[in-house]
Amino acid sequence: MTATILPLVFDGLCFDARGERLIHDLTATLRGGVRTILLGPNGAGKSLTLRLAHGLLRPSAGSVCWTGNRAQAAREGQAMVFQRPVMLRRSVAANVDYALALRGLARAARRSLVDEALARAGLGDVAGRPARVLSAGEQQRLALARAWAVGPEVLFLDEPTANLDPAATRTVEEMIAAIHEAGATIIMTTHDLGQAHRLADEILFLHRGRLMEHMAAAAFFAGPQSAEAKAFLTGDLLW
Ligand SMILES: Nc1ncnc2c1ncn2[C@@H]1O[C@H](COP(=O)(O)OP(=O)(O)OP(=O)(O)O)[C@@H](O)[C@H]1O
Ligand SMILES: [Mg+2]
Repeated sequence: MTATILPLVFDGLCFDARGERLIHDLTATLRGGVRTILLGPNGAGKSLTLRLAHGLLRPSAGSVCWTGNRAQAAREGQAMVFQRPVMLRRSVAANVDYALALRGLARAARRSLVDEALARAGLGDVAGRPARVLSAGEQQRLALARAWAVGPEVLFLDEPTANLDPAATRTVEEMIAAIHEAGATIIMTTHDLGQAHRLADEILFLHRGRLMEHMAAAAFFAGPQSAEAKAFLTGDLLW
């Protein structure tokens, strides 16, 4: 069996900025093989938690630990897609090719992987177009295809459909489901309850920088424990 970098363990994780504590003492274990959704209203600390997990921010206290103590494996085993996709000033195909080259793949091996990735995203016909002229939905599909192409064990997604219309949202959700089916562990944020319903196996519910609930999605939606989560589910918790 290949070694895995999961579970991912947050132990007393805290993050401060400008003298203010924004993430408070977050302890949780994120398992492999499931789709974990960080859910909560605007400003709850979802994006900060994801950035801490992906190593884009350093904890002010506590720790983020990947299994196995192998820094390089942990680094290479994860990819992240942001709400506003980061497109390189190159063609659609070259965006995927560049990500593969960064992982050290030889040019000959990259070509078929790029074609496959673009086909999976329905972008084969626009492979030669500059990535930055694509529509928001196409750019998000490209960002997902690029992340998927490098074969991460864990894919972090920060509000991947927040800027998209319903049709584009559905397409991106289908891609996320396919990436999960293919074996990747999904850890994503959303404030969209419908999306959490459709995609989550597990929920981490955050409010004002604190982890209020961590449970199976079905149990969370059937009976959240905290007053905050109950209010969020009924649309009464706005911040
Ligand atoms: N660098 C920073 N300096 C000061 N405050 C910050 C910084 N980064 C984030 N915050 C604050 O931390 C809180 C949590 O931010 P975060 O982006 O994690 O929220 P979120 O749950 O992702 O919300 P949204 O649904 O709006 O994306 C917010 O109140 C935000 O203003
Ligand atoms: Mg956010």
